[in-house]
This record gives sequence, structure tokens and C-alpha cells, in this order.
Amino acid sequence: MSTSVETRFPQGPKGSLLSGNLLEYRKDPLGFLTDLQKNYGGAATIRLGPQKMYVIYDPALLKEVLLTKHEHFIKLKAFQEARLFVGDGVATSEGEKHKRVRRLIQPRFTRAHIQKYARQMAEIVDRELNTWKPIDCRMLTDDLSNITFAIIARTLFSLEGNQHSRSIREPYELINRMCAERMRSLAAVPLIIPTAKNRSYKAALKALDQAVYDIVKERKMNAGVGEGDLLSVLMAAKNENGEGMTDQELRDELMIMFIAGHETTANALSWAFLFIMQHPDVQEKLYEEWDRILQGEPPTEETYMQLTYTQNVIWEAMRLRAPTFFTGRSAVRDVEIGPITVKKGQSVLFSPYAIHQNPTYFPDPLTFRPERFENDLLKKIPQFAYIPFGGGPRGCIGNHFAMLEMVIILSMIGQRYRLSLTPKHPPIEMEPLLTLRPKNGIEIIVDNR
Ligand code: HEM
Repeated sequence: MSTSVETRFPQGPKGSLLSGNLLEYRKDPLGFLTDLQKNYGGAATIRLGPQKMYVIYDPALLKEVLLTKHEHFIKLKAFQEARLFVGDGVATSEGEKHKRVRRLIQPRFTRAHIQKYARQMAEIVDRELNTWKPIDCRMLTDDLSNITFAIIARTLFSLEGNQHSRSIREPYELINRMCAERMRSLAAVPLIIPTAKNRSYKAALKALDQAVYDIVKERKMNAGVGEGDLLSVLMAAKNENGEGMTDQELRDELMIMFIAGHETTANALSWAFLFIMQHPDVQEKLYEEWDRILQGEPPTEETYMQLTYTQNVIWEAMRLRAPTFFTGRSAVRDVEIGPITVKKGQSVLFSPYAIHQNPTYFPDPLTFRPERFENDLLKKIPQFAYIPFGGGPRGCIGNHFAMLEMVIILSMIGQRYRLSLTPKHPPIEMEPLLTLRPKNGIEIIVDNR
């Protein structure tokens, strides 16, 4: 497979006259995005309905879009649908507004700052694990979502997760599915038309909206609560005119943290546990590392750094099952990306899921092998060849937070319990919604280690 673009205009699959490649994409997004790389190399041209787009795989091209020429792009226009529920927070806003909020909250997400959350994270996992019993049959995917939600709620907003988990996670389930469906559709039925689906979508949007507004309202009534947390930083912020954020702006920022911060992490962990269950040799190496370094204790700020094999297991799980399996940008003016002229308004897509299967950087790409990350692999391959957290000024703000949290959850569960799939568990398929999740969840039997 070539990793550079040899043609002036990247080639692509022909597709049908009216819908272009949309049907192939809708039928199997992951297969479609992976095959493009195999067939066309560093970049491909596709058409989703009337829209001509580029899909890029070459790390050098990706670097231009995400880093060196990032100011020529905004977030993918197709993500407008997601704005219906996430609003205009740091992940969706643009220009000055984005810069201002990102600058404001960035110090809360530095590697040094998030170390302080290690103890709180461990307390939440411990509390959850105290409700597990040997020979329990559990839905692992739900348990992990509960834990990651509670961690965001507590560390960033000083909230008890259980209290808000249902009111946010329940409507979000339906929204996630509907939003992904509408984004993939060429002609989604306008929400104003009261079909049964639209009505339940709108009801879920309203419920989610209300749940997050309630949190803002509650905090405003309880001055002094959560001093120094992310919500207090957002509430104290002033714009250039000396005005604070409106309730809607606060709601938008909270919403994005809840949504971006809990589901991705729960999915990455679900896949990591599944790979571990399928690879007893990896499990044994994890036990060895935990016994040597943790000796039954949760990771701390200090021991976290020593858990290199655990981190590699997570890196490898995210290589094969990148939770953000695709994303993209739309050009705000004509711009040259390598040999490609991207016209104003055109979009460039990229798929971490597919990019991570490039055999040039990841030999035998479909094999789960955490050892490949040893000896500084990430320093030896090109920047942007491995991008579970994206990159550049719009890369994931929560990357260090997520890594710390995943290492803590994985090692605390793994030290106490041995997980196995329930007997006759159906094969676990990938379900590409807004993020890449295990379809129908992962049901497990829990036993003492
Ligand atoms: C395994 C877990 C996670 C993965 C795989 C992940 C992945 C990503 C990716 C790929 C992007 C960039 C999307 C793009 O370029 O279009 C992103 C952005 C973002 N992520 Fe994460 N994320 C994770 C966890 C988190 C956590 C824990 C938080 C918050 C606590 C978070 C908050 C955000 C925010 C706010 C953005 C938008 C940044 C901006 O536009 O400036 N993420 N994430």
C-alpha cells in the first residue's frame, strides 16, 4: 500500500449518479473507510450525495489539515446535527470563541493537573467494585459507562455521578443512535415533521437539555460548592466586555464534557477488556506488572507512570478500535493540502480506525499485540500516523485525563476480578454510532482473580 499521494486529484470509487458512494458508506462505514486506504493509498475522493469530499490517510497530509493549515478549516459541516444537543461548546465552537474557552480550560487538563484526580478516580472505582460479587453476571459496557460518567461528574463538576447518570445517559442513548442515523442520511426528515421517531428524538433532546440546565441552576443556588472545579472556572470567566457566561453557554460546555468525556473512555475500555479476555498471555503479563508495582493497591500519581504494559494494552486497544472512528474538517477558503486543492466549503474526512491499520507503521495490523508500542514506537513513526485523540489545536483536551482514568479502572478491576464472557455470548460486533462501541454490549461473568 502506498502512503503518499501520487496523483494530482486523488482517485476514488465511482459510486452511483445520484447518491455517489453514500449507500456503500451507510452499509458498512468501517469497511468502506478501510478499503479506501487499501485501494487508493494516502488519499481518496468520494461523493456522499452531491458533496465531493476527500478522505485522507497519509500522515503528512493529515498534519497539514490538523496542524500547519488548521486555520483554513472548521469542524466538519456534517457535525451540525450533533450541535442540536451538544450546542456550541469547546468541541463545536469556532474561531475566537473556541480559542477563548480552550485557553481557559486547558490548564485543568495538563498532565500535571490531572494527576490530582487519581485519588478521586480510584475512590469511584472502588465504590462501584464494592457492589460486584463473584459469579455475578454483568453488562460490562454499562458498568464502564457508569464509572466513567461518575468520574467526569465528580472530578470536573463536584457532582455525585449516580444522581445525574440516568437523567443524562438515558436520553443520550437514543440521541446517539438517532444523530448517527441522521448524519448518515442524505435526506433526514426535518425535525419539524412530527413522525414518531422525530417526536421521541425531540423528547430526548429536551430531557437531556433540562438535565444539564438543572446542574447549572443547582450550582448557582449553592455558591461555594465545588470551589476550584471546572464548573467554577467556567462560571468565573469573563469575556472581553467583562461579561460572564450565560446559562446556555455554561450548559453547552458542561454538555460537551459529559458527552465527549464519558462514552469514548467507556468504549475504549470495553474493547480493551474484550481483547484481554481473548488473550490470556496479555492478561498474565498485566498480572505480573500489577503484582510487581501495585501489590493490590490502586495506581497513584507515582505508580501510574510505571505501568507501561497496562498503558500499551490501552494504546493497542485504541489502535484497533479507535472510539472516534472518524471525524473531519470543512474548508473555509480554498487551500492546498499536498497535491490536493480543497475548495472552500469542501470537506476532508479522516478515520483514526482505518489509519491505524496501515501496515507500514503497524505490521500485521489486525493482530492485537501491545508489545508493538514498546521501545518508543510513537516516536519512530510519523506524527499523525497514530491518532486516537486526534491532534493539533483541536485535538482531544482530555487525552491525559482519559489515559489516567483508563489505567486506574483497568488495573483496579483486573486486580480484583477475573472477567470472562458469558457462555454462548454471541460474537461481538462493532457498532459505529457517534463513537465505535460493541454492538449490544459485552456481558461478562465476574470471578475472584
Ligand atoms: C479514550 C477516550 C477519548 C478519546 C478516544 C477521545 C478522542 C477525541 C478526538 C479524536 C478528538 C478530536 C476530534 C476531531 O479532531 O474532530 C477529541 C476532542 C475532544 N475531546 Fe476527547 N477523547 C477521549 C476522552 C475525552 C475526555 C475524558 C474528555 C474530557 C474530560 C474529552 C474532551 C474532549 C473535548 C472537549 C474535545 C474537543 C476539543 C476541541 O475541539 O478543542 N475527551 N477527543
